[in-house]
Amino acid sequence: MVINGPSFFIGKNSPDVISFGSGQPDLPPPKEIELIIRDCSDYKYGLVQGEEWLRDALSNQYNNTKQYTNSTKDSFVITNGASEALDLTFRALSRKEKKRNVLLPKPYYYSYPFIINFSGLNPLFTELKNNRIDLIDLEKKIDDCCAILINSPSNPTGRIESIDTLKQIEELTQKKGINVISDEVYKDLIYERENYFIKGPKVITINSFSKTYSMCGDRIGYLWSNDEELIKNVIEMKTHTSMNTNIKAQKRAFLATKIPKEYIESQRQIWENRRNLIYNGLKDIGFELNNPEGAFYVLPKINNTNKIVHDLYNDYKIIVYRGEWFGANNHIRLSYALDECKINKGLDIINTYVKKNNLL
Ligand SMILES: Cc1ncc(COP(=O)(O)O)c(C=O)c1O
Repeated sequence: MVINGPSFFIGKNSPDVISFGSGQPDLPPPKEIELIIRDCSDYKYGLVQGEEWLRDALSNQYNNTKQYTNSTKDSFVITNGASEALDLTFRALSRKEKKRNVLLPKPYYYSYPFIINFSGLNPLFTELKNNRIDLIDLEKKIDDCCAILINSPSNPTGRIESIDTLKQIEELTQKKGINVISDEVYKDLIYERENYFIKGPKVITINSFSKTYSMCGDRIGYLWSNDEELIKNVIEMKTHTSMNTNIKAQKRAFLATKIPKEYIESQRQIWENRRNLIYNGLKDIGFELNNPEGAFYVLPKINNTNKIVHDLYNDYKIIVYRGEWFGANNHIRLSYALDECKINKGLDIINTYVKKNNLL
């Protein structure tokens, strides 16, 4: 059996497997989003840009943050998850930008290089230094790029970028007229300190209901941009590809926007407890790793990741991902989107396995 990427595991939800693989919250979605009323219009075609009530609700949320002012529903496109928002964004940029590179901090979410390549653009990597964006390297490379992709909190490192760095990137990209794609799907999962979300005329934000509201399967995300031309382009491409995003799922997302903030705080607390459990557990086993500041991933160091991923799955029914899939050689990535009992059981098995094979 060859396990050649995350697609081998995605969507396999077997009860006898302990999965530290997919970044899919195990927590149930909020009960407030359940739909009871039957409505035939849910089965008709909808607005390609997304239903107005959802875009209005999002625009109210945006206007209530420090990051944005005067946002309107016209700045949003509702998509099939953040994944489609990213895909449409890069394809729209590819249509209008002469420079063909996108600056991508490495390690990265495994789909980024694929999405960028599919659009006809090329990822240009900038390696992290001490688990942070290296501004010196970034400055050297940014002139060759039409855009930079920021993901804070980050998958797979769990880091939150420093506020200073983000402000400097904001300043630099505004001065040079470079697009910033800010993937904020983990914006509500922060444990250590305040995040700062980058703003500016060429910022495109990407977001999703998948993580905060445990709604991965509903496939609801969105992009936000003040660039009318880009929004027009995105809608045109979506018209000829996926058309409207699922309307029932948009209704559930709309209901999610009405859930009080305390819900998010109570979920965050659960994730933080799990973060502490897995971080301390892996350290006790002897792994070297950074303490995640947000999202729900850890990235411990270890060699022979191909063998480890195969052995753990085939012999112990444990799923972990190779760091190589995220541009992080000699690491494995574990998602802690599973309950504490399974985390403990999984850690015990990993401990036995690495000790038996002298891997650390
Ligand atoms: C950083 C990042 N962006 C985007 C996505 C895709 O999210 P969605 O389910 O909304 O398509 C993921 C999913 O794991 C992710 O980790």
